[in-house]
Amino acid sequence: MLAGKNIILGITGGIAAYKAASLVRLLVKAGAEVQVIMTPNAKEFIAPLTLSTLSGKPVISEFFTANTGQWNSHVDLGLWADAMIVAPATASTIAKMANGVADNMLVTTYLSAKAPVFVAPAMDLDMFKHPTTKRNLDLLRSYGNHIIEPAAGELASHLIGKGRMEEPENIVKVLDAYFDQSLDMKGRRVLITAGPTYEKIDPVRFIGNFSSGKQGFALALECAERGAQVTLVAGPVSLAIEHPGVNRIDVTSADEMHRAVLDNIESQDVAIMCAAVADYKVENELDHKIKREKGDAPTLVLVKNPDIAKAVGAVKKPGQVLVGFALETDNEDVYAHEKLAKKNLDFIVLNSLKDKGAGFQVDTNKVKIIESDGSETIFPCKDKRMVAKDIVDLLNAKYLKS
Ligand code: C5P
Repeated sequence: MLAGKNIILGITGGIAAYKAASLVRLLVKAGAEVQVIMTPNAKEFIAPLTLSTLSGKPVISEFFTANTGQWNSHVDLGLWADAMIVAPATASTIAKMANGVADNMLVTTYLSAKAPVFVAPAMDLDMFKHPTTKRNLDLLRSYGNHIIEPAAGELASHLIGKGRMEEPENIVKVLDAYFDQSLDMKGRRVLITAGPTYEKIDPVRFIGNFSSGKQGFALALECAERGAQVTLVAGPVSLAIEHPGVNRIDVTSADEMHRAVLDNIESQDVAIMCAAVADYKVENELDHKIKREKGDAPTLVLVKNPDIAKAVGAVKKPGQVLVGFALETDNEDVYAHEKLAKKNLDFIVLNSLKDKGAGFQVDTNKVKIIESDGSETIFPCKDKRMVAKDIVDLLNAKYLKS
Protein backbone atom coordinates (compact mmCIF):
# COMPACT_ATOMS: atom_id res chain seq x y z
CA MET A 1 0.00 0.00 0.00
CA LEU A 2 2.97 2.33 0.37
CA ALA A 3 3.91 2.06 -3.30
CA GLY A 4 3.86 5.47 -4.95
CA LYS A 5 3.17 7.32 -1.70
CA ASN A 6 5.08 10.50 -0.88
CA ILE A 7 6.35 10.37 2.66
CA ILE A 8 8.07 13.09 4.68
CA LEU A 9 10.25 11.60 7.36
CA GLY A 10 11.10 14.13 10.06
CA ILE A 11 14.06 13.12 12.19
CA THR A 12 14.83 14.84 15.48
CA GLY A 13 17.83 14.80 17.80
CA GLY A 14 17.58 11.68 19.89
CA ILE A 15 19.71 8.59 20.05
CA ALA A 16 16.99 6.60 18.25
CA ALA A 17 17.80 8.70 15.15
CA TYR A 18 20.10 5.85 14.15
CA LYS A 19 16.98 3.73 13.51
CA ALA A 20 15.81 6.30 10.96
CA ALA A 21 18.23 4.84 8.41
CA SER A 22 16.41 1.47 8.52
CA LEU A 23 13.08 3.27 8.37
CA VAL A 24 14.08 5.11 5.18
CA ARG A 25 15.35 1.85 3.71
CA LEU A 26 12.09 0.00 4.48
CA LEU A 27 9.90 2.81 3.14
CA VAL A 28 11.89 3.02 -0.11
CA LYS A 29 11.79 -0.76 -0.42
CA ALA A 30 7.98 -0.63 -0.07
CA GLY A 31 7.90 1.74 -3.06
CA ALA A 32 7.47 5.08 -1.27
CA GLU A 33 9.26 8.31 -2.16
CA VAL A 34 10.89 9.63 0.97
CA GLN A 35 11.92 13.18 1.73
CA VAL A 36 13.96 13.44 4.90
CA ILE A 37 13.80 16.59 7.02
CA MET A 38 16.19 16.78 9.96
CA THR A 39 16.30 19.16 12.87
CA PRO A 40 19.75 20.70 13.42
CA ASN A 41 20.28 18.45 16.48
CA ALA A 42 19.41 15.28 14.56
CA LYS A 43 22.55 15.77 12.48
CA GLU A 44 24.60 15.20 15.63
CA PHE A 45 23.20 11.66 15.82
CA ILE A 46 23.16 10.51 12.20
CA ALA A 47 24.88 11.82 9.08
CA PRO A 48 22.65 13.46 6.46
CA LEU A 49 24.75 11.70 3.81
CA THR A 50 23.51 8.29 5.03
CA LEU A 51 19.90 9.39 4.73
CA SER A 52 20.22 11.21 1.40
CA THR A 53 21.94 8.13 -0.05
CA LEU A 54 19.22 5.79 1.20
CA SER A 55 16.34 8.06 0.16
CA GLY A 56 17.90 9.19 -3.11
CA LYS A 57 17.07 12.82 -2.26
CA PRO A 58 19.08 15.57 -0.59
CA VAL A 59 18.15 15.90 3.06
CA ILE A 60 16.46 19.18 4.03
CA SER A 61 17.36 20.82 7.29
CA GLU A 62 17.47 24.57 6.80
CA PHE A 63 14.94 27.04 5.41
CA PHE A 64 17.31 27.64 2.50
CA THR A 65 20.43 25.97 1.19
CA ALA A 66 23.41 27.99 2.39
CA ASN A 67 25.66 27.87 -0.67
CA THR A 68 22.99 28.36 -3.36
CA GLY A 69 20.43 30.41 -1.44
CA GLN A 70 17.73 28.01 -2.72
CA TRP A 71 14.53 28.34 -0.70
CA ASN A 72 13.08 25.10 0.72
CA SER A 73 9.34 25.59 0.63
CA HIS A 74 7.66 23.99 3.63
CA VAL A 75 4.28 24.77 2.05
CA ASP A 76 5.07 22.82 -1.14
CA LEU A 77 6.45 19.94 0.92
CA GLY A 78 3.36 19.92 3.11
CA LEU A 79 1.15 19.63 0.03
CA TRP A 80 3.36 17.03 -1.67
CA ALA A 81 3.19 14.53 1.19
CA ASP A 82 0.66 11.70 1.50
CA ALA A 83 1.89 11.23 5.06
CA MET A 84 4.39 12.77 7.43
CA ILE A 85 6.21 10.69 10.04
CA VAL A 86 8.26 12.17 12.84
CA ALA A 87 10.56 9.42 14.07
CA PRO A 88 12.18 9.68 16.46
CA ALA A 89 10.15 12.49 18.00
CA THR A 90 11.89 14.01 21.02
CA ALA A 91 10.02 15.66 23.89
CA SER A 92 11.23 19.01 22.61
CA THR A 93 9.92 18.56 19.06
CA ILE A 94 6.63 17.14 20.37
CA ALA A 95 6.26 20.27 22.52
CA LYS A 96 7.04 22.51 19.54
CA MET A 97 4.55 20.69 17.33
CA ALA A 98 1.86 20.83 20.00
CA ASN A 99 2.34 24.56 20.53
CA GLY A 100 3.25 25.78 17.05
CA VAL A 101 6.83 26.76 17.83
CA ALA A 102 7.95 26.84 14.21
CA ASP A 103 11.64 27.60 14.63
CA ASN A 104 12.95 24.89 12.31
CA MET A 105 12.13 23.37 8.96
CA LEU A 106 10.56 20.24 10.47
CA VAL A 107 7.97 22.01 12.64
CA THR A 108 7.23 24.56 9.91
CA THR A 109 6.53 21.75 7.47
CA TYR A 110 4.38 20.01 10.10
CA LEU A 111 2.24 23.14 10.41
CA SER A 112 1.78 23.22 6.63
CA ALA A 113 1.12 19.50 6.19
CA LYS A 114 -2.33 18.57 4.93
CA ALA A 115 -1.63 14.82 5.11
CA PRO A 116 -1.98 12.57 8.18
CA VAL A 117 0.87 12.89 10.64
CA PHE A 118 2.40 9.99 12.55
CA VAL A 119 4.55 10.64 15.59
CA ALA A 120 6.87 8.02 17.09
CA PRO A 121 8.12 9.39 20.42
CA ALA A 122 11.50 8.35 21.77
CA MET A 123 12.85 9.56 25.08
CA ASP A 124 13.85 8.45 28.53
CA LEU A 125 11.09 6.96 30.69
CA ASP A 126 10.82 9.92 33.08
CA MET A 127 10.54 12.38 30.24
CA PHE A 128 7.85 10.22 28.64
CA LYS A 129 5.94 9.99 31.93
CA HIS A 130 6.15 13.73 32.64
CA PRO A 131 2.75 15.47 32.59
CA THR A 132 3.98 18.03 30.06
CA THR A 133 4.86 15.29 27.56
CA LYS A 134 1.54 13.60 28.19
CA ARG A 135 -0.32 16.86 27.69
CA ASN A 136 1.55 17.67 24.50
CA LEU A 137 0.87 14.19 23.10
CA ASP A 138 -2.82 14.66 23.99
CA LEU A 139 -2.78 17.94 22.09
CA LEU A 140 -1.28 16.22 19.05
CA ARG A 141 -3.97 13.52 19.30
CA SER A 142 -6.63 16.21 19.45
CA TYR A 143 -5.25 17.65 16.18
CA GLY A 144 -5.82 14.22 14.63
CA ASN A 145 -2.18 13.12 14.65
CA HIS A 146 -1.46 9.43 15.15
CA ILE A 147 0.83 8.63 18.03
CA ILE A 148 2.84 5.45 17.56
CA GLU A 149 3.34 4.52 21.19
CA PRO A 150 6.92 3.85 22.25
CA ALA A 151 7.80 0.37 23.42
CA ALA A 152 9.10 -0.62 26.85
CA GLY A 153 12.61 -1.94 27.25
CA GLU A 154 16.14 -0.85 27.99
CA LEU A 155 16.72 2.80 27.17
CA ALA A 156 19.88 4.70 26.24
CA SER A 157 20.21 5.67 29.94
CA HIS A 158 20.24 1.90 30.72
CA LEU A 159 17.05 2.41 32.70
CA ILE A 160 14.22 0.04 31.84
CA GLY A 161 10.82 1.49 30.95
CA LYS A 162 8.57 2.95 28.26
CA GLY A 163 10.25 5.32 25.85
CA ARG A 164 12.01 3.29 23.14
CA MET A 165 11.00 4.36 19.68
CA GLU A 166 8.86 1.71 18.00
CA GLU A 167 10.89 -0.48 15.64
CA PRO A 168 11.01 0.72 12.01
CA GLU A 169 9.29 -2.49 10.81
CA ASN A 170 6.31 -1.73 13.05
CA ILE A 171 6.16 1.92 12.02
CA VAL A 172 5.96 0.78 8.41
CA LYS A 173 3.18 -1.67 9.39
CA VAL A 174 1.19 1.17 11.00
CA LEU A 175 1.51 3.26 7.83
CA ASP A 176 0.66 0.33 5.62
CA ALA A 177 -2.46 -0.43 7.66
CA TYR A 178 -3.43 3.23 7.51
CA PHE A 179 -3.28 3.39 3.73
CA ASP A 180 -4.91 -0.01 3.46
CA GLN A 181 -8.06 0.81 5.39
CA SER A 182 -7.88 4.52 5.07
CA LEU A 183 -11.17 5.21 3.37
CA ASP A 184 -13.48 2.32 4.23
CA MET A 185 -16.05 4.74 5.75
CA LYS A 186 -16.11 6.98 2.67
CA GLY A 187 -19.59 8.32 1.98
CA ARG A 188 -20.95 7.11 5.33
CA ARG A 189 -22.73 9.60 7.56
CA VAL A 190 -22.13 9.10 11.25
CA LEU A 191 -23.63 11.00 14.18
CA ILE A 192 -21.77 10.79 17.47
CA THR A 193 -22.69 12.20 20.87
CA ALA A 194 -19.81 12.86 23.25
CA GLY A 195 -19.00 14.28 26.66
CA PRO A 196 -21.23 15.10 29.61
CA THR A 197 -24.30 17.30 29.77
CA TYR A 198 -24.67 20.10 32.30
CA GLU A 199 -28.06 20.72 33.86
CA LYS A 200 -28.42 24.19 35.32
CA ILE A 201 -29.36 24.74 38.96
CA ASP A 202 -29.00 28.50 38.81
CA PRO A 203 -26.97 30.82 36.53
CA VAL A 204 -23.65 29.71 38.08
CA ARG A 205 -24.19 26.09 39.12
CA PHE A 206 -24.99 22.87 37.40
CA ILE A 207 -25.35 19.11 37.81
CA GLY A 208 -22.79 17.34 35.67
CA ASN A 209 -20.53 14.32 35.54
CA PHE A 210 -16.86 13.46 35.04
CA SER A 211 -17.06 12.51 31.35
CA SER A 212 -14.17 14.06 29.38
CA GLY A 213 -15.54 13.30 25.92
CA LYS A 214 -12.27 11.59 24.94
CA GLN A 215 -13.86 8.35 23.70
CA GLY A 216 -16.48 10.14 21.60
CA PHE A 217 -13.90 12.49 20.09
CA ALA A 218 -11.62 9.54 19.32
CA LEU A 219 -14.55 7.89 17.52
CA ALA A 220 -15.27 11.06 15.55
CA LEU A 221 -11.67 11.32 14.42
CA GLU A 222 -11.45 7.63 13.55
CA CYS A 223 -14.61 7.80 11.41
CA ALA A 224 -13.55 11.07 9.74
CA GLU A 225 -10.09 9.79 8.92
CA ARG A 226 -11.67 6.74 7.33
CA GLY A 227 -13.68 9.02 5.05
CA ALA A 228 -17.00 9.43 6.91
CA GLN A 229 -18.91 12.66 7.25
CA VAL A 230 -19.27 13.04 10.99
CA THR A 231 -21.76 15.10 12.97
CA LEU A 232 -20.30 15.38 16.44
CA VAL A 233 -22.78 16.56 19.06
CA ALA A 234 -20.52 17.53 21.93
CA GLY A 235 -21.44 18.39 25.48
CA PRO A 236 -19.22 20.81 27.45
CA VAL A 237 -15.68 19.44 27.03
CA SER A 238 -12.25 21.00 26.74
CA LEU A 239 -11.27 19.05 23.64
CA ALA A 240 -10.52 20.35 20.16
CA ILE A 241 -11.01 18.51 16.91
CA GLU A 242 -9.69 19.78 13.59
CA HIS A 243 -10.84 17.65 10.68
CA PRO A 244 -12.72 18.81 7.61
CA GLY A 245 -14.93 15.70 7.85
CA VAL A 246 -16.26 16.63 11.29
CA ASN A 247 -19.17 19.00 11.77
CA ARG A 248 -19.20 19.82 15.48
CA ILE A 249 -22.36 20.97 17.22
CA ASP A 250 -21.73 22.18 20.77
CA VAL A 251 -24.51 21.76 23.31
CA THR A 252 -24.76 22.09 27.07
CA SER A 253 -27.85 20.33 28.40
CA ALA A 254 -29.51 16.99 27.64
CA ASP A 255 -32.46 18.81 26.10
CA GLU A 256 -30.14 20.64 23.70
CA MET A 257 -28.34 17.40 22.85
CA HIS A 258 -31.68 15.66 22.28
CA ARG A 259 -32.79 18.41 19.87
CA ALA A 260 -29.47 18.44 17.98
CA VAL A 261 -29.55 14.65 17.58
CA LEU A 262 -33.17 14.47 16.41
CA ASP A 263 -32.64 17.36 13.99
CA ASN A 264 -29.78 15.48 12.35
CA ILE A 265 -30.65 11.79 12.65
CA GLU A 266 -32.73 11.35 9.49
CA SER A 267 -29.82 11.33 7.03
CA GLN A 268 -27.37 9.28 9.11
CA ASP A 269 -26.14 5.76 8.39
CA VAL A 270 -24.84 5.30 11.92
CA ALA A 271 -25.49 6.90 15.31
CA ILE A 272 -23.06 6.28 18.15
CA MET A 273 -24.38 7.43 21.50
CA CYS A 274 -21.23 7.92 23.49
CA ALA A 275 -22.31 10.87 25.66
CA ALA A 276 -22.76 10.57 29.40
CA VAL A 277 -26.14 12.26 29.45
CA ALA A 278 -27.38 13.46 32.83
CA ASP A 279 -30.34 11.34 33.86
CA TYR A 280 -32.07 14.22 35.61
CA LYS A 281 -32.44 17.95 35.22
CA VAL A 282 -33.60 20.52 37.77
CA GLU A 283 -37.27 21.31 37.44
CA ASN A 284 -37.13 24.43 39.58
CA GLU A 285 -34.04 26.00 37.89
CA LEU A 286 -33.51 29.47 39.31
CA ASP A 287 -32.87 32.57 37.23
CA HIS A 288 -30.80 34.18 40.01
CA LYS A 289 -27.85 32.88 42.04
CA ILE A 290 -28.85 30.94 45.15
CA LYS A 291 -27.45 32.83 48.17
CA ARG A 292 -26.08 30.86 51.10
CA GLU A 293 -26.97 33.62 53.58
CA LYS A 294 -30.67 33.69 52.69
CA GLY A 295 -32.92 31.16 54.38
CA ASP A 296 -32.65 27.39 54.48
CA ALA A 297 -30.77 25.17 52.07
CA PRO A 298 -32.82 24.97 48.87
CA THR A 299 -34.53 21.77 47.77
CA LEU A 300 -33.86 20.78 44.20
CA VAL A 301 -36.69 19.05 42.40
CA LEU A 302 -35.34 16.73 39.74
CA VAL A 303 -37.18 15.52 36.67
CA LYS A 304 -36.08 12.93 34.12
CA ASN A 305 -34.15 13.97 31.04
CA PRO A 306 -35.10 12.53 27.66
CA ASP A 307 -33.34 9.26 26.84
CA ILE A 308 -31.71 10.30 23.56
CA ALA A 309 -30.51 6.84 22.54
CA LYS A 310 -33.98 5.40 23.17
CA ALA A 311 -35.56 8.19 21.11
CA VAL A 312 -33.21 7.39 18.22
CA GLY A 313 -33.94 3.67 18.62
CA ALA A 314 -37.65 4.42 18.32
CA VAL A 315 -37.25 6.19 14.95
CA LYS A 316 -34.43 3.99 13.60
CA LYS A 317 -34.97 3.15 9.94
CA PRO A 318 -34.01 -0.16 8.31
CA GLY A 319 -30.32 0.01 7.45
CA GLN A 320 -29.52 2.58 10.13
CA VAL A 321 -27.13 1.32 12.78
CA LEU A 322 -27.42 2.43 16.41
CA VAL A 323 -24.59 1.95 18.87
CA GLY A 324 -24.80 2.66 22.59
CA PHE A 325 -22.39 2.77 25.49
CA ALA A 326 -22.85 1.54 29.03
CA LEU A 327 -20.67 2.53 31.94
CA GLU A 328 -21.47 0.44 34.96
CA THR A 329 -20.09 -0.21 38.40
CA ASP A 330 -21.86 -3.54 39.03
CA ASN A 331 -24.08 -6.11 37.32
CA GLU A 332 -22.48 -4.90 34.10
CA ASP A 333 -23.68 -7.59 31.69
CA VAL A 334 -27.26 -7.67 32.94
CA TYR A 335 -27.66 -3.90 32.61
CA ALA A 336 -25.96 -3.86 29.21
CA HIS A 337 -28.32 -6.50 27.83
CA GLU A 338 -31.30 -4.60 29.20
CA LYS A 339 -30.16 -1.37 27.51
CA LEU A 340 -29.47 -3.12 24.23
CA ALA A 341 -33.09 -4.26 24.07
CA LYS A 342 -34.76 -1.21 25.62
CA LYS A 343 -33.01 1.28 23.34
CA ASN A 344 -33.21 -0.86 20.17
CA LEU A 345 -29.41 -0.80 19.78
CA ASP A 346 -27.46 -2.93 17.30
CA PHE A 347 -24.62 -3.22 19.73
CA ILE A 348 -23.51 -1.79 23.03
CA VAL A 349 -20.00 -0.98 24.20
CA LEU A 350 -19.72 -1.85 27.85
CA ASN A 351 -17.06 -0.51 30.17
CA SER A 352 -16.89 -1.08 33.87
CA LEU A 353 -15.55 1.40 36.40
CA LYS A 354 -14.20 -1.66 38.20
CA ASP A 355 -11.64 -2.19 35.42
CA LYS A 356 -8.32 -0.44 35.79
CA GLY A 357 -7.73 1.91 32.86
CA ALA A 358 -11.41 2.20 31.91
CA GLY A 359 -13.92 5.00 32.23
CA PHE A 360 -13.91 8.76 32.70
CA GLN A 361 -10.99 11.14 32.10
CA VAL A 362 -8.33 8.48 31.42
CA ASP A 363 -6.79 7.98 27.95
CA THR A 364 -7.41 4.26 27.91
CA ASN A 365 -10.49 2.11 27.96
CA LYS A 366 -11.28 -1.56 28.41
CA VAL A 367 -14.47 -2.59 26.69
CA LYS A 368 -16.70 -5.52 25.92
CA ILE A 369 -18.99 -5.30 22.91
CA ILE A 370 -22.34 -7.04 23.16
CA GLU A 371 -24.36 -7.32 19.95
CA SER A 372 -28.09 -7.76 19.49
CA ASP A 373 -27.47 -11.18 17.88
CA GLY A 374 -25.89 -12.35 21.13
CA SER A 375 -22.22 -12.13 20.04
CA GLU A 376 -19.81 -10.85 22.65
CA THR A 377 -16.21 -9.68 22.23
CA ILE A 378 -13.89 -8.71 25.06
CA PHE A 379 -11.02 -6.35 24.24
CA PRO A 380 -7.90 -5.65 26.29
CA CYS A 381 -7.23 -2.24 27.82
CA LYS A 382 -6.04 0.16 25.09
CA ASP A 383 -5.78 3.77 24.08
CA LYS A 384 -9.24 5.27 23.43
CA ARG A 385 -8.24 5.88 19.81
CA MET A 386 -7.53 2.17 19.38
CA VAL A 387 -10.85 1.34 21.06
CA ALA A 388 -12.48 3.62 18.49
CA LYS A 389 -10.72 1.67 15.77
CA ASP A 390 -12.07 -1.64 17.13
CA ILE A 391 -15.61 -0.24 17.17
CA VAL A 392 -15.37 1.15 13.62
CA ASP A 393 -13.79 -2.11 12.41
CA LEU A 394 -16.79 -4.03 13.74
CA LEU A 395 -19.21 -1.52 12.20
CA ASN A 396 -17.56 -2.00 8.83
CA ALA A 397 -17.16 -5.73 8.97
CA LYS A 398 -20.66 -6.58 10.09
CA TYR A 399 -23.05 -3.65 9.82
CA LEU A 400 -22.03 -1.54 6.81
CA LYS A 401 -21.20 -4.13 4.21
CA SER A 402 -23.25 -3.06 1.21
O1 C5P B 1 -29.32 4.20 30.44
P1 C5P B 1 -27.90 4.60 30.39
O2 C5P B 1 -27.66 6.05 30.67
O3 C5P B 1 -26.96 3.79 31.21
O4 C5P B 1 -27.51 4.28 28.88
C1 C5P B 1 -26.29 4.59 28.32
C2 C5P B 1 -26.46 4.79 26.84
O5 C5P B 1 -27.61 5.58 26.54
C3 C5P B 1 -25.32 5.58 26.26
O6 C5P B 1 -25.18 5.17 24.93
C4 C5P B 1 -25.79 7.00 26.38
O7 C5P B 1 -25.13 7.86 25.48
C5 C5P B 1 -27.26 6.88 26.10
N1 C5P B 1 -28.13 7.85 26.79
C6 C5P B 1 -28.80 8.82 26.08
N2 C5P B 1 -29.66 9.67 26.74
C7 C5P B 1 -29.85 9.58 28.06
C8 C5P B 1 -29.17 8.59 28.80
C9 C5P B 1 -28.30 7.75 28.12
O8 C5P B 1 -28.60 8.91 24.88
N3 C5P B 1 -30.66 10.41 28.66
